[in-house]
Amino acid sequence: MSTHKIAIIGLGYVGLPLARLFATKYPVVGFDINQKRIEELNQGSDHTLELEDEVLQAVLVKEVPFGDSVHGLYCSSNLDDIKDANVYVITVPTPVDKHNRPDLTPLYKSSETVGKVLSKGDIVIYESTVYPGVTEDECIPVLEKISGLKFNEDFYAGYSPERINPGDKEHTVEKILKVTSGSTPEIGTVVNDLYKSVITAGTHLAPTIKVAEAAKVIENSQRDINIAFVNELAKIFNLLEIDTHAVLEAAGTKWNFLPFKPGLVGGHCIGVDPYYLAQKAQEKGYHPEIILAGRRLNDSMGQYVASQVVKTMIKKNIKVNGGKVLNLGITFKENCPDVRNTKAVDVIKALEDYSLEVTTYDPWANEGEVEHEYGINSISTIDGVVEKYDAIVLTVAHKEFLDLDLTQFLKENSVIYDVKGILEECDSRL
Ligand SMILES: NC(=O)c1ccc[n+]([C@@H]2O[C@H](COP(=O)([O-])OP(=O)(O)OC[C@H]3O[C@@H](n4cnc5c(N)ncnc54)[C@H](O)[C@@H]3O)[C@@H](O)[C@H]2O)c1
Repeated sequence: MSTHKIAIIGLGYVGLPLARLFATKYPVVGFDINQKRIEELNQGSDHTLELEDEVLQAVLVKEVPFGDSVHGLYCSSNLDDIKDANVYVITVPTPVDKHNRPDLTPLYKSSETVGKVLSKGDIVIYESTVYPGVTEDECIPVLEKISGLKFNEDFYAGYSPERINPGDKEHTVEKILKVTSGSTPEIGTVVNDLYKSVITAGTHLAPTIKVAEAAKVIENSQRDINIAFVNELAKIFNLLEIDTHAVLEAAGTKWNFLPFKPGLVGGHCIGVDPYYLAQKAQEKGYHPEIILAGRRLNDSMGQYVASQVVKTMIKKNIKVNGGKVLNLGITFKENCPDVRNTKAVDVIKALEDYSLEVTTYDPWANEGEVEHEYGINSISTIDGVVEKYDAIVLTVAHKEFLDLDLTQFLKENSVIYDVKGILEECDSRL
């Protein structure tokens, strides 16, 4: 029987699926400061929809499972419940502040938490996306200070970035090859073996923690830059009156052309992580040009989409001031309930700036959360809506929108604008 007793700190999109996976083989306590989240999980349901209820319920146990080393997941916000763990995995958020600077507060706070219960021989593995150096230069000193223990003598560290894609039911945590690393070569092997025991896709042991940190942050930066490039192409081809999607389809027939599509880049990974890398580069005296240009371009797309909608309305002689728009989708991506850092909001706000009246329908988003986060009233069902609109903007490619009969919401003269390029018929698309 394994001697690993695992505590997962932070039970969000990343932490919960990982805790569930480890719990199929190991005793696991999932710890979160959000009491409501703990209650919901202990009742066997996950509002992020990453885990189906029966999958979660199948691993839940009624008390801390460390005593008998039985496998299973116990969720708690009580520090006492994680004190007997010997592997701590930290999966807390790594946001940016309003100036797009990395905000390491959750990492500092969760390191303090772990520092209070850390014992000799324990391993602390970070999974949150960071710039190279955060684990060893920022988090370890907190662990040392709070615990009074010495790094790489009394306790050890690892870094293993998460690569999940929320809402993606195909690439679930166990099916994604996992990069691992450790603070010494021996600990690297221990960390790697631990993940290898549950990740069916296998693992890649990186030579150092900094290499593993850098690998993750460049994966998302690379995506951001590639999307920025096709967004720039969309702007150019719109001016040239050429259909960008048709161009991409034609170019995509070459074996090494990368299949990126234009769109809004929101969420808390691709739109945020490049700022982490940029910050570290700037600290070292290098001003990143491509990374920040990509960020600027992608951040401008909400405003651009709104201006294109308005242009199309004007071309069709539709009155803009006071016009009614049906916006389809507000989550940051398709088939996922996450509304944090969604760029659909940029489109809505920009349309409102043009004095358009916007109704947002999103069957995935929680209306209360949307109102709380953005002050926007959204509807989660379209049944019973009889209104006709001057423009319909498809902002998020939820599967429900593919079967929605848009004609019922159209006036004799209306605009359909398709941000995602998924509708068969539209007046204009990105
Ligand atoms: N969501 C993704 O698609 C994704 C994919 C790969 C990597 N990541 C990275 O993983 C990390 C976590 O992201 P997420 O989407 O799971 O975040 P999340 O916001 O969904 O979940 C984080 C959880 O941590 C909890 N938390 C915050 N501070 C805490 C503390 N001090 N102690 C204990 N719990 C605390 C929160 O209450 C929340 O439940 C981030 O660094 C993110 O960049 C996210």
